[in-house]
Amino acid sequence: MKTIQQAKWHEPVVMELGVPGRRGIVFPRPETDTSALVPKGMRRTRKPALPELTEHDTLRHYLHLSQQVLGMMGVSLFGTCTMKYNPRLGEALGLRPQMAEMHPLQPEETMQGLLEIVHNFDLILRELSGMDGFTFQAAGGADAAYTHACVTRGWLAAKGELEQRNEIITSIQAHPCNPATAATAGFKVVTLMLEENGYPSIEALKAALSNRTAALMINNPDDMGVYNPQIAEWVALVKQAGGLAFYDHANFNGVMGRIRARELGFDACMFMLHKTFGGPKGGGGPAVGAYGCSAELLPFLPKPVVVKQDGRYRLDHDRAQSVGKVREFLGNLHIVMRAYLWSRGMGADGIREAADLAVLANNYMEKKLLAIPGVARSNPAGKAWRMEMTRYGLGPLKEETGIGVVEVGNRMTDYGIDAPWLSHEPWVVPEPFTPEAGELWSKEDIDLWCDVLAKVCEEARTNPDLVRTAPHHAPIGRVDSEAPEDPARWATTWRAHLRKRAARLSQAAE
Ligand SMILES: Cc1ncc(COP(=O)(O)O)c(C=O)c1O
Repeated sequence: MKTIQQAKWHEPVVMELGVPGRRGIVFPRPETDTSALVPKGMRRTRKPALPELTEHDTLRHYLHLSQQVLGMMGVSLFGTCTMKYNPRLGEALGLRPQMAEMHPLQPEETMQGLLEIVHNFDLILRELSGMDGFTFQAAGGADAAYTHACVTRGWLAAKGELEQRNEIITSIQAHPCNPATAATAGFKVVTLMLEENGYPSIEALKAALSNRTAALMINNPDDMGVYNPQIAEWVALVKQAGGLAFYDHANFNGVMGRIRARELGFDACMFMLHKTFGGPKGGGGPAVGAYGCSAELLPFLPKPVVVKQDGRYRLDHDRAQSVGKVREFLGNLHIVMRAYLWSRGMGADGIREAADLAVLANNYMEKKLLAIPGVARSNPAGKAWRMEMTRYGLGPLKEETGIGVVEVGNRMTDYGIDAPWLSHEPWVVPEPFTPEAGELWSKEDIDLWCDVLAKVCEEARTNPDLVRTAPHHAPIGRVDSEAPEDPARWATTWRAHLRKRAARLSQAAE
């Protein structure tokens, strides 16, 4: 079986690499004093504390860093919510000046092409979901869920029911962004537990519904690949109780072109353009959670929205009931462009075929993985086929050998496999892992992935220390996972790191 040996460069971080006076490009001084152009209160009083480096030093450092990662160029069956290959064509078009040099404040007349893409892609998503309009402002899936919580507030306030309807219902297997964003928007969260078959019972839903229900926020298939076949009935019950039904469609890959959220009765849904639709992953930052809704909710969408009028496109800011903004301007439109490109490239038939391939690949993989001693499937009592992914557990292996999923994942990287995604909290499945092949990976890649897992499970029995101390071929063996949880150590800036390190050192010296 092939293995990998990653590079290891013993060099400091870039902030410690600088040498005073080193320069990359030396720009000529301006002929006139331009500092007056910057308002006084905004002028720097001190130089930025950046490392001083030549262009070559800088490039070499980042080349070294790139050599130290496995990246996504191993075999990376990374569920949930479908991490996909990002076509190079999308990257190339994103770098063209018409896209890269666009400024969000430039006049509408000069961005007609981009607005046309936004409008046309909105139409594609309407077709895929049955909704009446989309916004691309949210910068990720969680942000789109938050958009829904805000739209729910706007809708309830307009009906005079905001005080009374203060509960949002979700399930323990819904992505945590659903309860989290509901709570952030001021709602009380009601969480439904799962039955043996993998989804909550309809009786539990009925018991949770009342005249306090504001909305249901749920994904289906959920993050275990379980599709709730009673979903239309669920939505009808929520509507009867006077609430809104929101479909977190992050796991759309298994049902693309096969079901439409609106036809199931949902009032709103979201798609992950940075995952399912081929854009680069990057939740909560440079990403896009496309949020769409029924005509009734359209007035509450974040503004502005793109409208087509007399063959031209314009931004409509004049929307009295809008919830305002969840992100600057129109969101990360370069991702919308990539998603548009992906959708047009695939076509309606291609999108449907991709869903079928994703389900086929997953069920092929499931047969192979369940043949490996030590691997179990979540909710074995649920006999229905999983959709585009399955959540497994290494509980039996852990019981037998003491070796769990984190150690196994670390050892898999020694064979060129990206450590698999486990599960979000809470871990309702012991030692969980959730691979997803989608339509991308070949049969050979899937076979390799399964063979590596089988090999590592065998090693856990025959040479447990080898697995326990993995990875052995990577520049960093084990990441200290406690540091990001410790307020005294985490730091998002170099300055904060220096301050906290100095505080720790002085404490240690006392
Ligand atoms: C079902 C589901 N919903 C929402 C999200 C959140 O998406 P993002 O990471 O873009 O915020 C995820 C991401 O893992 C997901 O799996």
